[in-house]
Amino acid sequence: MTKTALITGANKGIGYEIARGLAAHGFTVLVAARSAERGTAAAAALRTEGHRADFVQLDVTDPESIAAAAARIDAEYGRLDVLVNNAGIARYDGTALPSEATVATLREVYETNLFGVVAVTNAMLPLLRRADDARIINMSSDLGSISLAMDPESPYYKLAFLAYASSKSALNMATACYAKELRDSGISVNAVNPGFTATDLNNNSGTRTREEGARIAVAVATQDSPPTGAFLQDDGPLPW
Ligand SMILES: NC(=O)c1ccc[n+]([C@@H]2O[C@H](COP(=O)([O-])OP(=O)(O)OC[C@H]3O[C@@H](n4cnc5c(N)ncnc54)[C@H](OP(=O)(O)O)[C@@H]3O)[C@@H](O)[C@H]2O)c1
Repeated sequence: MTKTALITGANKGIGYEIARGLAAHGFTVLVAARSAERGTAAAAALRTEGHRADFVQLDVTDPESIAAAAARIDAEYGRLDVLVNNAGIARYDGTALPSEATVATLREVYETNLFGVVAVTNAMLPLLRRADDARIINMSSDLGSISLAMDPESPYYKLAFLAYASSKSALNMATACYAKELRDSGISVNAVNPGFTATDLNNNSGTRTREEGARIAVAVATQDSPPTGAFLQDDGPLPW
């Protein structure tokens, strides 16, 4: 039976390329997007390349949408082999420094980048438990690495982007917590860093292509015997 992968925020950017990469590996890809128009178009574009792709409406901040997506996947596919929690946003007040941040902005970023991941993961876990070798991949960021943020030799030492960076640090801890709970379940849980990738998230200022940004998630989803509880990029583990 064909393996099935759900990718949140798959209508564009790195998520779309992850869907494309997994489809090229033979997965049926469930292109999750909050907009029916954008998601339908993305799934259709993948199908024109000969891939198996289906649009699933899913706003990671909307519990009803998450429950409906899980019910539909259950009814139509019966299980899930890979979940990529890719949907993410970057918002900031002023210069993004902590002294200029508002709690409202932090809440908005956390709703998508952390609470959305927990809500989607918990809703999809019953489907992932039915697969033999299921994988959860969380799209984190090296900006979420506290070790790099506090390393004077790191380019991130001078940065203090409170809302986005701390949401990804929290996502890293969520990754570790799920990996521990699921250690004996056969479901691996890892966080990945795509690198600085040209997408709408950064007004296309990134230095990597979207295909390059998608590479680590596709690798962790498809490699034999993936680790669990790791924070990974193309060239290996990153410090938490
Ligand atoms: N680009 C980078 O350099 C970089 C570096 C490190 C980590 N990342 C991470 O990589 C992931 C993908 O980012 P990207 O660079 O590809 O950004 P992007 O091009 O802006 O794509 C973000 C995707 O997330 C979706 N999304 C946002 N809020 C959502 C919600 N509430 N429900 C469902 N989908 C939602 C967007 O949908 P709409 O089209 O509807 O807005 C879009 O499909 C994010 O988690 C980001 O933090 C990116």
